[in-house]
Amino acid sequence: MTSPDSQTVELGREFLDTVIVQGREYQKYSTDNRIYFGPVDEVKGTNGFSIVFVTDNQSRRKRSVLITNTGLFDDRLIFPPVHRLRRVLDCGHGAASWAIEVAEQYPNCELLLKVIGVDIAPHMSPDDVDDLNQRFTFPPNHFDLVHSRLLATGIHRSRWPSYIRDIVRVLRPGGWVQMTEMYFNVQSDNGSLTDQHALRRWSTQYMRALEDRKELRIGSRLRSYFTESGLVEVDTKMIPLPLMREIGHYNSENIQQLLRSLALYPLTHRLHMSPQSFDRLVEQAQEEARSHSLKAYFPLYVCIGRKRQ
Ligand SMILES: C[S@@+](CC[C@H](N)C(=O)[O-])C[C@H]1O[C@@H](n2cnc3c(N)ncnc32)[C@H](O)[C@@H]1O
Repeated sequence: MTSPDSQTVELGREFLDTVIVQGREYQKYSTDNRIYFGPVDEVKGTNGFSIVFVTDNQSRRKRSVLITNTGLFDDRLIFPPVHRLRRVLDCGHGAASWAIEVAEQYPNCELLLKVIGVDIAPHMSPDDVDDLNQRFTFPPNHFDLVHSRLLATGIHRSRWPSYIRDIVRVLRPGGWVQMTEMYFNVQSDNGSLTDQHALRRWSTQYMRALEDRKELRIGSRLRSYFTESGLVEVDTKMIPLPLMREIGHYNSENIQQLLRSLALYPLTHRLHMSPQSFDRLVEQAQEEARSHSLKAYFPLYVCIGRKRQ
């Protein structure tokens, strides 16, 4: 995280090494250091929980259909009222889904827009390979917008206040931050989900597997963290992400895949669940997720805030 415009990063072997767990590939550095437990491969259509359904091997260009392209946010990618975007920092860049879609949605801005993607995993070719749990070394007052999406499982619990302070420091005065975080406790619209349901058991176990290190309720706490760090014009919105959805066949299928890919390492390696019990739990949870009557959803929180002029 040394230069905001750096294009090449010299990597130690430890960032590149991977391990295979039940057929999925993980960054060894992340799992050994208990930083992040999402897969880095592209099999079965999911990478962590950026959903990949198009891959052009040459450009490694991928798109996400989990959050965008579903009508969920009215296909909005940028929530703050920004008029000028020259430098953008994308924290936890992943498959660059957000940055690619921003470039597609604002084709005329392309020359103006420079997105710096930071990720701990070099496997997706971010601009900078770094652990966001470490203090930022980007220059202060630099970015127009900092975007951070789906990092609850990668940022350490105790890091959140200083992570947000670091973001504020690198924003230019008047610049914006936009964060999106999912709450992994599956909810039901009509209250029909009970503790006996596999979906609820999935949530409980997943959260138990990570809660010693991660703040999985961060979505609902962003507003107070933003305000405490001096951001103004703070606004937050909870958007239900339905597990069963009429408008997007892809969306439902992908979310079902997530139940497996998100929880595989945490449940089998951190909670030592047997592969058979894991498969059973996931299959039951997937079946329930398909049920229209449960109306199950994951709460998704979007929070924006502005650095004072
Ligand atoms: C769930 S994916 C989200 C990707 C992207 N933000 C999106 O919304 O499509 C999380 C990404 O953050 C990265 N990540 C997790 N913890 C991190 C950390 N401590 N530092 C840097 N990157 C991290 C992972 O490697 C992964 O690519």
